[in-house]
Formats: sequence, structure tokens, C-alpha cells
Amino acid sequence: MGKIVVVGSINMDMVFTSDKRPKAGETVIGNTFSLIPGGKGANQAVAASKLGADTYMIGCVGNDSNGEFSLKNLRDMKVNTRAVKIVDKAPTGLANIIVADNDNSIIVIPGANFEMDKDVIKENKALLLSADMVLLQLEIPMEVVEYVVDICAENKVRVLINPAPAAPLKKSLIEKATYITPNEHELRLIFDNQETDAVLKQYPNKLIVTMGSRGVKYHDGNEIREVPSNKVDVVDTTGAGDTFCGALAAALVRGDSIEGAVIFANKAASFTVTRLGAQSGMPELADLL
Ligand code: RIB
Repeated sequence: MGKIVVVGSINMDMVFTSDKRPKAGETVIGNTFSLIPGGKGANQAVAASKLGADTYMIGCVGNDSNGEFSLKNLRDMKVNTRAVKIVDKAPTGLANIIVADNDNSIIVIPGANFEMDKDVIKENKALLLSADMVLLQLEIPMEVVEYVVDICAENKVRVLINPAPAAPLKKSLIEKATYITPNEHELRLIFDNQETDAVLKQYPNKLIVTMGSRGVKYHDGNEIREVPSNKVDVVDTTGAGDTFCGALAAALVRGDSIEGAVIFANKAASFTVTRLGAQSGMPELADLL
């Protein structure tokens, strides 16, 4: 079993479902409301853990009931939380999620996630160095992301960056990362609007581009490989990208090839979208077999 360390966000997701997405200035009557533990970091940790990886989380929550709920949930999902810091200065991160028209829209209030700093990383450097792979997203300060990638690169620890939510990445960060998993929108923002295939050719076996219902693309060193998505009845797409990243990492650390890992992660992400919620929809190994 490989060891994964996720450095990232922990949020409480407030999920509203509705038949119709409200336009600006409009009020609509919705269907359901749920409070579901989320955050791209925590989601990826749960995805990896449910699929068999020995998973640790480095992050921050507030000293409040959402923080307690999130930590308990991570522990229930067998994610080790000894490196999650409880901070007094800010509340646990929140996400307002609207699920309508087969898609979601999300507003994140980072709260305690933005209290992550280099000191939190220094305190947990030994844990980072013990990882078979480190996973990062962009819901914590960019300087922390860059610091972690520097440590990983200096110490030859594999690091996967999921550049979500979309933000520009420094060229040096791109060079130092082992894997980068943008969706098409994130890819365009990071690579100056270049076409997907043109960018893939520049970063073989590093860049893995997710394309929603059209599947996943990467360059294997010889050619561009395309893995189609599995056809499923979509209930909620929230967390599909996170499931993909957690599952990809879990497969890579157990020794799968990139091709095998991408196929496995694609299958896991397809499973997630058939259920409501990010973490609540994620599969276990048995579900995928
Ligand atoms: O990727 C989905 C996640 O984005 C949600 O769980 C929400 O918390 C936001 O971080």
C-alpha cells in the first residue's frame, strides 16, 4: 500500500439542489439541502483512502463545529489527521454549491484554509518526505503550494498538482511537478490559451487533462492517448475531478502504469457523478471491481 500526503483545503459544503439554476437577480424554489464534508484537498484524500492508499492530510480547520465535523469525517474515512491544525483566527472553509441542470456552481470562502503557511509545512516536513506521492490543489495560498513543490522536488518526492480552482502557475512550478491534472479551462489559463494537444506534446507523461464527459487525454511519450469516459446517469458532478486525482494517485503509488492509473481514475470519477455530494459519492475498491 502506497503512502499519500494531501496538502490542501478542508471545507464544509452547503449543497442546494434545484431544477433550475437562478439567474442574476432571480429567486427559485429548490429541492434539497445537505451539509456534506468537502474541500478539494479533503475530497482527494478521501478518494485515495477509500481506494486503498495509506492517506495523510495536512491542512487547517477553524475551532468550530464545521471543523470538528470535517475532522471526524476524515478519520471515519481512515485519513490520518494528525497534521491538520485547528486555528482560532478563522472559521472552517465553506462552499456554497448549487447543483442544477446536470452541473454545479461553487463559491468557496477559504477561511482557515488561508491560514496555511510555511510553518505548518515545516512542522510536517518529515511526513511530506515519507510520502510516495504528495497531492496539492489551489485552495490554499500559492506560496505554500510553491514551498511544498520545492521541498518535494529537492527530495525527489513525486508531487501531483491539481490546478483547481483555475489560477496561473509559474513555469518553474510546472517543471518541478511530477504530474499536473488540469481540466480544459484550467489548461487554457495556465498555458496562454494554447490548444490542448499542443500543450500535451510539450509535457509527456506529466500533463493529464480531464475533459468531463469526453474523458481524459495525456501524451505517453510517443502519441496522445485518449481515455473515453464511462457512460453513466449523472446526479451530481461535484468532486468528479477530486475523485479522479485521488484515484490516480492511489493507483500510481500502488505501482500502476500511467495508462492503467488513468483508466482506473476515470472509472472512479464516473462512479462519483452518479451520487449526490463529493465525498458521499466516492467509490470503494469493491464498487469499481
Ligand atoms: O471540487 C469540489 C469541491 O470544491 C467541493 O467539495 C468544495 O468544497 C470546493 O472546494
